[in-house]
Amino acid sequence: MILILLGPPGAGKGTQAERIVQTRGVPQLSTGDMLRAAIQSGSPLGQKVQAIMDRGDLVSDEVIEQIITARIREADCAKGFILDGAVRTTGQAEMVDRVLKNQERSLDVVIELAVDEDELVNRLGNRIDEAKAAGKPVRADDNEETFRKRQAVYRDQTAPLIPYYEKQGKLRKVDGMGTVAEVASAIDAILDEIAAE
Ligand code: AP5
Repeated sequence: MILILLGPPGAGKGTQAERIVQTRGVPQLSTGDMLRAAIQSGSPLGQKVQAIMDRGDLVSDEVIEQIITARIREADCAKGFILDGAVRTTGQAEMVDRVLKNQERSLDVVIELAVDEDELVNRLGNRIDEAKAAGKPVRADDNEETFRKRQAVYRDQTAPLIPYYEKQGKLRKVDGMGTVAEVASAIDAILDEIAAE
């Protein structure tokens, strides 16, 4: 199963992807996590992207193409994978379509998690509190100003993917305002339906 989770920052993409890894046995490909790991390691890629991520902008499509194409060639992606926040521009969507076509594969479904902006800001606050309580570092882009910027970038550059995937007949919308369990059950119903096709 090849699945894209689409939704604004804080919508719950990572939370749901981690759960799907456990229930469906396919890996989670989070470009955000991969880029943060590169920053952490001090690699040339990390040095290149740090300032961009810290101010809430998107890294270039070229960088994402390199990361994604290398990752989906790995053996554990043979049976499918979850692209968690990994497709954010029309250029990236076209690149993923092209790479999959070359491998004679295609996307199964794109699940859009829809959440109001006020709720997203609440969730950001919770995530910051949770990180502090656990003695973990707070993400450099998790402050209200940068978070608002990330929401604006989502509206401008990523939301156009909704009509893009609607046109392909791949888009399914899930109300992301419910509890984690409610959102999970709505996603599971879609994934079960697709698995049965
Ligand atoms: P990335 O790391 O992908 O961040 P994001 O898209 O901004 O998403 P988040 O991780 O903030 O939120 P999420 O939707 O995963 O929600 P979560 O499950 O954590 O990207 C960071 C940056 O990397 C980008 O800004 C960009 O610079 C760069 N980047 C990455 N990919 C790129 C790409 N393809 N192209 C270009 N640049 C790229 O949940 C949030 C909080 O809410 C958590 O505390 C969680 O516990 C809680 N929560 C989750 N679900 C619920 C629920 N249903 N009810 C209540 N609380 C909930």
